[in-house]
Amino acid sequence: MALLEQLVKKIEGADALDAAGDALSGPVATATGSDSIKQLLSGGWMGHQLHPMLTDVPLGAWLSATAIDVLGGRGERRAARRLIGLGVLASIPTAASGASDWVDTYGGEKRLGVAHGLGNVAAIALQCASWRCRRRGHHFRGKVLSAAGLGTALGAAYLGGHLSFGLGVGMNHTAFEFPPSDWTDVAGVDDLVDDQPKRVDAGGVAVMIVRHRGVIRALSATCVHAGGPLDEGTIEADCVICPWHGSRFRLDDGAPLRGPAAIPQPAWESRVVDGRIEVKPAS
Ligand code: FES
Repeated sequence: MALLEQLVKKIEGADALDAAGDALSGPVATATGSDSIKQLLSGGWMGHQLHPMLTDVPLGAWLSATAIDVLGGRGERRAARRLIGLGVLASIPTAASGASDWVDTYGGEKRLGVAHGLGNVAAIALQCASWRCRRRGHHFRGKVLSAAGLGTALGAAYLGGHLSFGLGVGMNHTAFEFPPSDWTDVAGVDDLVDDQPKRVDAGGVAVMIVRHRGVIRALSATCVHAGGPLDEGTIEADCVICPWHGSRFRLDDGAPLRGPAAIPQPAWESRVVDGRIEVKPAS
């Protein structure tokens, strides 16, 4: 196993990080728990996770500053310092969105998230120190500090990438559903009780059907956020609320109206034929 993989495994199993995770979870959950803040930080308002997009800004700014340090001359010193400052400012919303995503993780994911966050805090501190040195005319020291900060940020980004692509945090948990293209019989009309979601199988895909205000609605039953069972969720104000982390999806089109889910839940059309309910993916 490669050295980096071993390191990641060690961090995932490091119980020592649980104390920090437990101490941070409460305040972060309180700070990011309101519907509007959660929706803003998750990215549900644009139908895509916010955090991965924002990370490009501080990393890009700090990388550009270091490139200027290496390739530029004395005349570019101010531009490099400003890029360092831009990266520090951009790290504030980036950290907030990451913390909001992190608070809904558990176990090894949570420990890796703690290490990812601590690495980024160290990177920001180094960049702040670099900015101050540059401001005071200590350019060489400022360059060394920002190069160290960039390296630390890239290390933290490695852990963040592993969280997404190795452990599936933030991935669309319906991405590998292959629904049938035609209408599929899934249940009898009499099987439904108003506002009580029911799990059915449509050609190998789990679908949640529910009769709400006299209309039968259908969404994929696996929550896009982390795979929670929407058929065990509650119906409220024309939405289904995921029982795992409280994401709220509009019943008629699956739009995420409250994070942590950021992308729409796959929606299905429904019809009744001879007392039987049929569904097919919404076009
Ligand atoms: S699994 Fe997290 S909100 Fe549904």
